[in-house]
Amino acid sequence: MKYPFHIERTEVSRLSTVDFNNLQFGKLYGDHMFVAECRRGKWTDCRIIPFGNLPFSPASSALHYGQIIFEGMKAFKNPEGEPLLFRPDMNWHRFNSSAARMAMPAVPEELWHDALNELVYMDADWIPQEKGCSLYLRPFMFATDRFIGVRPTEMFKFIIITSPAGLYYPKPVKVMTTSKYVRAFPGGVGYAKAAGNYGATMLPLREALERGFDQVLWTDGVEHKWIHEIGTMNVFFVIDGVALTPNLDGTILAGVTRDCVIQMLKKEGVKVEERPVSIDEVMEAGRNGKLQDAFGSGTAAGITQISHIEHKGELIALPPLDQRPHSARLRDELDGIKNGTMPDRFGWTVKVKSKLLAEVLE
Ligand code: COI
Repeated sequence: MKYPFHIERTEVSRLSTVDFNNLQFGKLYGDHMFVAECRRGKWTDCRIIPFGNLPFSPASSALHYGQIIFEGMKAFKNPEGEPLLFRPDMNWHRFNSSAARMAMPAVPEELWHDALNELVYMDADWIPQEKGCSLYLRPFMFATDRFIGVRPTEMFKFIIITSPAGLYYPKPVKVMTTSKYVRAFPGGVGYAKAAGNYGATMLPLREALERGFDQVLWTDGVEHKWIHEIGTMNVFFVIDGVALTPNLDGTILAGVTRDCVIQMLKKEGVKVEERPVSIDEVMEAGRNGKLQDAFGSGTAAGITQISHIEHKGELIALPPLDQRPHSARLRDELDGIKNGTMPDRFGWTVKVKSKLLAEVLE
């Protein structure tokens, strides 16, 4: 291996304490985590160690200026019990695109894949096989320079934690637009998985939750007319048989699930348009019965159906779930591809392979 790993196994596994039949999203963490340092451009100290707290300086620049990026990925097991990753190369590209925007170092491809493979191999028993569940993987990187002046930084930690998880949205979601807040602006960091993108949506999200909604449907910051995304997922609308999704203009995330949905629909012969989508067009279609389906797509959220959309005080209800042309079918096929129960006609799944641990653990 180009980047040597140090391995320290946990003395006592917490696996037996996990109730795999009642998993929620983001509450439990696997036995191990991957940690590496980048010091002035040099990747070093790669290790898999027991999951736990880490020491770092309270002066770390990430804590003060939010130089933090992350990814969301999932591991599954096929019916033969073999661990699978889903399109890890796409997450690697997006992680490094986020890193570039935030003036952080790129994670080398070999390091990315070795870290994921060895960690998932090590905690393979933590991969749930229950319906809708997965081992959620959270790679993230932050600046650790002990300096509270604002300047591009030189020291970083790259970490991957794992979390056995159930559905992010167990039910269809009710979404609302807002003209009070803006998520992203051209030239900003909307396309990056930068932590601050999510931190800034906490207040709008709290207000939406207080009003009985599940999420904000973000629109552009100038006219509040052009739909961006739902914050935790990209968004699709099906109007008159055509699937519409906002184009990647730098303000929204280039979702891996978004890309899967586009490829799957196109392969089925469905017309897909990636273009600016206005909220007026969606509301109008909702009013005259032409809005056949609406759903979010994301790694954590999978494909989540939208039940209602509110815009400027008007609430439209989407058709009953069993009358939607695409969302349920896409969700089931994508879940099946990911857990190896349906043919992977796109070649998206990758079997986890260990270079190091397979020998050490034998
Ligand atoms: C994911 O879909 O994995 C994400 O990172 C979204 C997250 C904010 C839950």
